[in-house]
Amino acid sequence: MNLTQKILLAHLVEGKMAKGEEIAIKIDQTLTQDSTGTMAYLQLEALGIDRVKTELSVSYVDHNTLQQGPENADDHKYLQTVAARYGIYFSRPGNGICHQVHLERFGVPGKTLLGSDSHTPTAGGLGMLAIGAGGLDVALAMAGEPYRIIMPAIVNVRLKGELNPWVSAKDVILELLRRLTVKGGIGKIFEYSGDGVKTLSVPERTTIANMGAELGATTSIFPSDERTYEFLKAQGREDVFVPLSADEDAEYDEVIEIDLSELEPMVALPHSPDNVVKVKDAGRPRVDQVAIGSCTNSSYMDLMKVASILKGKTIPEHVSLVIAPGSRQVLTMLAKNGALADLIAAGARILESACGPCIGMGQAPATGAVSVRTFNRNFYGRSGTKSAYVYLVSPEVAAAAALTGYLIDPRELGEPPQVPLVERFEVNDNMIVKPPEDGKNVEVIKGPNIKPFPLNTPLSDIEKKVLIKVGDDITTDHIMPSNARLLPLRSNIPELSKHCFEIIDENFSKRAVEWGGGIIVGGHNYGQGSSREHAALVPLYLGVKAVIAKSFARIHKANLINSGILPLTFVKEEDYEDIDMGDVLKIENTVEQVRSGKNIIVKNLTKGKSFEVRLEVSDRNREILIAGGMINYVKSKNKTN
Ligand code: F3S
Repeated sequence: MNLTQKILLAHLVEGKMAKGEEIAIKIDQTLTQDSTGTMAYLQLEALGIDRVKTELSVSYVDHNTLQQGPENADDHKYLQTVAARYGIYFSRPGNGICHQVHLERFGVPGKTLLGSDSHTPTAGGLGMLAIGAGGLDVALAMAGEPYRIIMPAIVNVRLKGELNPWVSAKDVILELLRRLTVKGGIGKIFEYSGDGVKTLSVPERTTIANMGAELGATTSIFPSDERTYEFLKAQGREDVFVPLSADEDAEYDEVIEIDLSELEPMVALPHSPDNVVKVKDAGRPRVDQVAIGSCTNSSYMDLMKVASILKGKTIPEHVSLVIAPGSRQVLTMLAKNGALADLIAAGARILESACGPCIGMGQAPATGAVSVRTFNRNFYGRSGTKSAYVYLVSPEVAAAAALTGYLIDPRELGEPPQVPLVERFEVNDNMIVKPPEDGKNVEVIKGPNIKPFPLNTPLSDIEKKVLIKVGDDITTDHIMPSNARLLPLRSNIPELSKHCFEIIDENFSKRAVEWGGGIIVGGHNYGQGSSREHAALVPLYLGVKAVIAKSFARIHKANLINSGILPLTFVKEEDYEDIDMGDVLKIENTVEQVRSGKNIIVKNLTKGKSFEVRLEVSDRNREILIAGGMINYVKSKNKTN
């Protein structure tokens, strides 16, 4: 067996591990971050359990740490009290980015992790089977329900050779994105093997696993070996180490080879992570901003490389350099060894250990600016400045850009930085709050910004207008933008709904209210990008009954089902062309058609034509859609039992 199959088998609750079959697996650990967490915990409360049933659950605050009004602080208070009530660890604001802290302090090789953040697969660098999901899936996992997934294809990425100086783990994943595109990993798990693996430290492996999310992959996983042991030992956690790897004769659905020694420094050009070229071919644009950090590249080693490149130098006048260390552990170590002083002396602006500019939380670039970032996403508008050009690179390339003011191949700088491996990380868990043994008497504090999540109604016949028609690769950022202005409202769906699709069409929300809801028509890969459940909850609140698209991104499709919104795909893609905004679409006998499993007939009353769509979901998902979403389904199931 391959490693993925071994872990899945050890956690299998239901189903057959054959590609395309639905399987249910036991979840050992969960994580949430604050932007998806408030909603997840409102859902957990609605499920009516007493204490989480996982081995370990952690609630992190890392996204929305800027406090311009009371909303964020209120949310943090809710998250902290609800965590204590239900037996969940709480990582306080300032302690770091969920994926970095989870890796340092909680990850265990061979365990399953479900997180309400699309970069949860980061923990795959430690040999965990870590999957990003919607907040509701995570709430259900905390309540002891298994996680259901269609058995993905397993792709073996064989690494051979060793990276050359100035080339880093980021370049490995950028190369894969170049080859496979942002759609290339959909329905797949990427399992790494080969001699090249042992040349990569755990933080380097996690950079690769992290950006597997940009391939659209279900997750990525590395073996657990002597490098894993070395990392855990340096964290004082070697007791959780177990060696894990694929069998010699393991079989895979697909094999990809990468010779590490052939890679060069790479860059993802604006506005997509797969728009990848070699840095030397990127045309040397002048750089206005360099942002270093995020769950992709803000480990101790990453920042030490940057510090060593900038030591004793000064950044040019036209460059703003911002650095957000991945965790308080990283920041503390940089402070103690003097690297932080080197960075500050070079002109860096040091930010809190949090997601920060990655989520558009401060440090939006200037109008039309070029921003070079070590992050994982450069979708249009994500930086907070619609006209900005965001380039994604390794810490080495970012440091070279900060130093010279231009996007240059860092090999031009000569000698590469030499950073010794860490033997002992600085461990201090005093910003992680352990839940009490019994939380029954803990008062859960809900400020005015915490509004109940919207509940759908059971499915009935649909006759609605097309509210909007969009093209391919619509991201969750398009559907429900996430920026400094809107993040404080993530637990307040009625307010958020006023901004749905505003990047594409300012009148969308108003129209949805006036037309009493409707239907969305989309192209390929609809809903790519993040696990943001709000991209389904807000359309639900606005009365969207169905999305008809050419194809869907996996997590968003699951979120639509959980919200009771039909995710329908065109049987004939050309039918997309015949639909316009405002057309009235009718689905007769909706419940019967949904239950039948056959193609569904949609009448376009405006055009006087009919076309067919598919509902490619499991029988159980059909029942969830008929019930009007997951909460209604679980409630009715519990009533029947
Ligand atoms: Fe945070 Fe950006 Fe990662 S928002 S979790 S640092 S993708």
